[in-house]
Amino acid sequence: MANAAELTVDGKSYSFPTLEGSEHEKAFDISSLRDQTGYVTLDRGYKNTGATKSAITFLNGEEGILRYRGYSIEDLAAKASFLEVAYLLIYGELPTQEQFSEFENAIRRHTLVNEGMRKMLEGFPINAHPMSVLASLVSGMSAFYPDSYEGTTDTSDRDIIRLMAKLPTIATWSYKRSQGHPINYPQNNLDYIQNFLHMMFALPVEDYTVDPVIAEALNILLILHADHEQNCSTSTVRLVGSSQANLYSSISAGISALWGPLHGGANQEVIEMLEEIKAGGGDVAKYVDMAKNAKTTGFRLFGFGHRVYKNFDPRAKIIKKAADDVLSKLGVNDPVLEIAKGLEEAALNDEYFISRKLYPNVDFYSGIIYRALGIPTNMFTVMFAIGRLPGWIAQWKEMRETKEPIGRPRQIYVGSELREFVPMENR
Ligand code: CMC
Repeated sequence: MANAAELTVDGKSYSFPTLEGSEHEKAFDISSLRDQTGYVTLDRGYKNTGATKSAITFLNGEEGILRYRGYSIEDLAAKASFLEVAYLLIYGELPTQEQFSEFENAIRRHTLVNEGMRKMLEGFPINAHPMSVLASLVSGMSAFYPDSYEGTTDTSDRDIIRLMAKLPTIATWSYKRSQGHPINYPQNNLDYIQNFLHMMFALPVEDYTVDPVIAEALNILLILHADHEQNCSTSTVRLVGSSQANLYSSISAGISALWGPLHGGANQEVIEMLEEIKAGGGDVAKYVDMAKNAKTTGFRLFGFGHRVYKNFDPRAKIIKKAADDVLSKLGVNDPVLEIAKGLEEAALNDEYFISRKLYPNVDFYSGIIYRALGIPTNMFTVMFAIGRLPGWIAQWKEMRETKEPIGRPRQIYVGSELREFVPMENR
């Protein structure tokens, strides 16, 4: 590989170093571009821009590869627990038994949320979307832990534990509020996933025991969502954190970015779309046609397409199989699963989708599993956020540790040139 890229502009030649990542992806290092040439680059949607160097997650979209810290997503989903994966992402290595116990116990001891947060929760309207509640309460956490922004001590490890421990509590509270049910407090004799399920589903009027099939399925889903390199919400977390904003504020911004229907919000959109197809008699061809005419209909097939994966999304492959397994183990017969499979088949055989390399993504089948687990549709993106939390934390921590400069893109200004101010009476 060449070790310099030549650029000729305005009759002058410039040389820029190239670099290669550990999995051989290649880049031009244009850090000195503007200083040398006076030019900036324009790359809307950052389709070609490497925003950072990162040692956390490797993704090869052409070959459908996803690895956290070098471990394949297939291996981790089959063999690891979500908290083990969280440790791996955040601290770089799989934990020893001792490290894991220390991490897990610290999280267990921090699940309780300040009662002041509960009062904040009560101020939200009953029909508030849980993502809006989640983003607000996480942002509010910095007010309860001012050491996170006062910089008096190095608190980030404590903040990491607090966030990992309290996010499931807050998430389930947002759901309980929407149901008009009393919230549940965490029970620290339960493990991370059991505790989430208990807080989500237990009612004061009857006993609740965690179904191991549900806990196992949730473990897989959270692992699959745990990181995905420089996606929209992660880039948001890094960008906000690059101003040295505290961890809670940065993660809250990431939650807001995740909510959008083109990102994590797609899992809710998928189920709503499948329901609509079912209600209309199951005509999948009609929806494929609408998506093909996206420019006029404005309709996209939710759960299809990905900025990076152009072959298949390895997470979707695992989730599709898990959906079959989980539904059959739980004895759930959801007609929407058949509609999803029909839609996938129709799209995958259609020239529009083939030529644009549009495949089902992680969100296509995940909602069907969440539904079988009893998780309501407006909580799907919250589940994604719980899964993505360790990835956001790891990326925020890496960004801080490598002392990344504040993120501050340039622009090409296309507005008016200098104009003279006109007083209001003369306009
Ligand atoms: N349905 C119909 N057409 C599509 C779709 C779709 N789901 N996705 C992309 N296209 C078309 C698009 O219209 C464009 O066509 P043309 O070349 O004729 O203009 C072409 O494919 C390329 O699309 P793009 O919008 O330039 O691609 P992108 O990389 O900017 O967008 C995406 C990626 C995920 C935002 C997009 O595929 C999409 O909107 N998908 C539906 C929403 C979705 O499922 N999002 C979840 C993503 S995975 C989980 C996550 O990261 O949150």
